[in-house]
Amino acid sequence: MYPDYMRESLKKVERTRPARLKIARSGEKIFPLMSAKEREEVLKDFHPDYKPDSLREIRVGANKGEKITSEVANLLESHSRINPDDFDLSRIDYDTDVLVIGGGGAGAAAALLARENGARLIMATKLRMGDANSMMSQGGIQAAVNPNDSPLIHYLDAMGGGHFDSKPELVRALTRDAPGVIRWLEDLGVMFDRDPDGNMVTKLGGGTSRKRMHSARDYTGAAIMRVLRDEVRNHPEDIQVIEFSPAVELLMDDKGQVAGTLLYNLETEEYEIVRAKSTIIATGGYGRLHIKDFATTNHYGATADGLVLGYRAGANLLYMDAVQYHPTGAVYPEQIMGFLITEKVRGLGGQPVNKHGQLFVFPLEPRDVETASFIRECTERDNGIKTPTGKVGVWLDSPLIEAISGEGTIRRDLPAMYRQYDRFEIDITREPMLVFPTLHYQNGGLEINDKCETKLRGLYVAGEASGGVHGRNRLMGNSVLDYNVFGRRAGIRAAVAARKVKLGKLTLDHVRRYEKALKEAGIRTSRISPILLPDYTRPETKSRQLTAHYEGTLR
Ligand code: FUM
Repeated sequence: MYPDYMRESLKKVERTRPARLKIARSGEKIFPLMSAKEREEVLKDFHPDYKPDSLREIRVGANKGEKITSEVANLLESHSRINPDDFDLSRIDYDTDVLVIGGGGAGAAAALLARENGARLIMATKLRMGDANSMMSQGGIQAAVNPNDSPLIHYLDAMGGGHFDSKPELVRALTRDAPGVIRWLEDLGVMFDRDPDGNMVTKLGGGTSRKRMHSARDYTGAAIMRVLRDEVRNHPEDIQVIEFSPAVELLMDDKGQVAGTLLYNLETEEYEIVRAKSTIIATGGYGRLHIKDFATTNHYGATADGLVLGYRAGANLLYMDAVQYHPTGAVYPEQIMGFLITEKVRGLGGQPVNKHGQLFVFPLEPRDVETASFIRECTERDNGIKTPTGKVGVWLDSPLIEAISGEGTIRRDLPAMYRQYDRFEIDITREPMLVFPTLHYQNGGLEINDKCETKLRGLYVAGEASGGVHGRNRLMGNSVLDYNVFGRRAGIRAAVAARKVKLGKLTLDHVRRYEKALKEAGIRTSRISPILLPDYTRPETKSRQLTAHYEGTLR
């Protein structure tokens, strides 16, 4: 239930709704799309990436000298959790063809395709399989399947959305594989929304010029991830799943190949050595770093572990200066602060309006532009609505959806969202939601080619941990697609390559070299990484998982 003092503003939203509805029904543009110059200006003035302290130079590693997001630079300029001298690397605990680090969508897709290509494999995951952003995605997955659409048009939308900074070969792979991914997922058992005649339902997303968003109501991620997880579990003879065991460093061999990982068992607190001919990083993103103190839509385990592992071993990063804030995170009630309010709400006709009930931006501008416009409305223009705890937001007018498409649309198409608010006695078929941008996605990551290879032999990356697919701004529905396309590609490539790999003697010398580089750069810090769990993890949990071997002797 909204507090009484918000009632006046809510009444204004109700008063302006009929006029806004009339325009929406007329088929006219409800609000002018911004010109390229206007977009640039609002981004420069209001997007958090453009704040003076948002970037800083990284002083070590493959990207040394480049400006990257400050919080990520801090993480990368940290000590290892382990002392290489403590390990006897001839004592192998697990030996495998392919190692997948990460138990989300990219990891599951990679595991399935590696298996299909003849590999035996291990999937090691920090928490449980499926504890991942993939499980939480709501709005959908893009794929050009309609007669008025094509992978080429999808390619142009994705390139434009990413400010033409994406790696073309990756966008080509993403958009070309998309229709096949939908068929693959359907064959595995995913139930995408279809109309009464059995045709695929497709919707618009921000920055897309065609309807190509496939969804399963507003729990698309869960619908897909459950199927992938079941399918992985269907093959215990080939895929061994090791849970609650984060990777803390990659292992290399004396020929310079990546050769597995060192796992840390969160329950026994023991380290385990996994030797692998091919290693796939599929550890997801970094939402739980709470960049610029933003709330996040992300899963508890999203702490950029894969970036740290890959970077310390020598891999390159790409576009680590671009953070994605989703325009519509919940800002009230407090209990769901930062939770995702799917873009599908706007795809179905929901409009962002200010405290006066005025629509102030086209609802489906690309995400970064929409986000910057929301921030401008709440700051410079002071047209936001304050919450009891001092936060600010704008209304997302969901009742319009029912007015446009008929009573029952919200409960049918957004059942999870309806229930989420109903718990707090807010009926989103009658009242709008209060929203503000929330940290959602890591646009950049470890650099790959279209086979998911990094510059390090034996190391592959897929999903949110990789960089280059989305340039500096991802469009809705392209991340679920990304983890499927590149998870599958990584699985195939890693399995095929593993057939020919001969590993040498295992080593952790790269960790020693990185520690030396920190010292030479004059970096004095007590930070260690990967952090594994967010900074605000309860002390009793943290005391177990944050015992650094370098503690007390930090340089
Ligand atoms: O708004 C959403 O449902 C988010 C989708 C995405 O990030 O792709």
